[in-house]
Amino acid sequence: MDVVRDVAPLRAKIREWRAAGDRVALVPTMGALHEGHLSLVGIGRRRAHRVIASIFVNPKQFGAHEDLDRYPRQEARDGALLQQAGCDLLFLPSPQAVYPDGFSTSVSVAGLDRPMEGASRPGHFDGVATVVAKLLLMAFPDIAIFGEKDWQQLAIIRRMVADLNIPVDIIGAPILRDPDGLAMSSRNAYLDEQQRSVAGALPRTLHAAAQAIAGGAGVAETLATARAVLASAGFKPDYLTLADGETLEPLETNRQGARLFVAAKLGPTRIIDNMPVPFPGDPK
Ligand code: PAF
Repeated sequence: MDVVRDVAPLRAKIREWRAAGDRVALVPTMGALHEGHLSLVGIGRRRAHRVIASIFVNPKQFGAHEDLDRYPRQEARDGALLQQAGCDLLFLPSPQAVYPDGFSTSVSVAGLDRPMEGASRPGHFDGVATVVAKLLLMAFPDIAIFGEKDWQQLAIIRRMVADLNIPVDIIGAPILRDPDGLAMSSRNAYLDEQQRSVAGALPRTLHAAAQAIAGGAGVAETLATARAVLASAGFKPDYLTLADGETLEPLETNRQGARLFVAAKLGPTRIIDNMPVPFPGDPK
């Protein structure tokens, strides 16, 4: 696996591949890789000839009181995992390569960035949209792959790519879960043993609520019960919402394409998750 740290060598390598007729996939990450990320590389390998992974802990998507400084950085381990997973090229840009002096542009996807994560983390999605736009324009991949765990991020990226006519197919990858159902996330590493032992209550509660709503239970009552269950398991729920999976508008009743979205704190660690709510007529 080649490793490049700047845009010129990245583009030179991609030019070579394209001259040979290869399709290129990009997997943008912030490192601290887990099986979920490696599954994105696997999807890239199945859908393209060449896979690039980027690792960049993007300062613009962290709020003033968030975990930028303590975000896990483990370049050597991540590189070895990517190589084993069959990644062809690791792009490891420095902050200066991504945001050179005088950098003044911000990409904002209005509306979709308001609810849920956007309400709790002002400016977060501008930071995400800006860096993803940059990575897509630096590499010009045929496809780019993002995990569905960050569903709102994925919806925002799809909107941005459509609005700006960026010629790339955005692929959403299914959430990978630990045996107790907890969605894989780099931030799970912050959980201590006791917190990790109760964390499975979050996906279990979300699943039970999705099934109840699909079975005809009232949305407001179901969400209130789920919130209480989470609180009694030790979580501090931030939001728990039924919303349209595309527009992210909150829903009071179930319909095709509805999903449940949750964010809750366990100690200082914020965990997010989402699940579809079955609806009659959904494809099996
Ligand atoms: O999901 C992430 O890891 C990040 O938000 C992304 C898409 C790599 C942008 O920094």
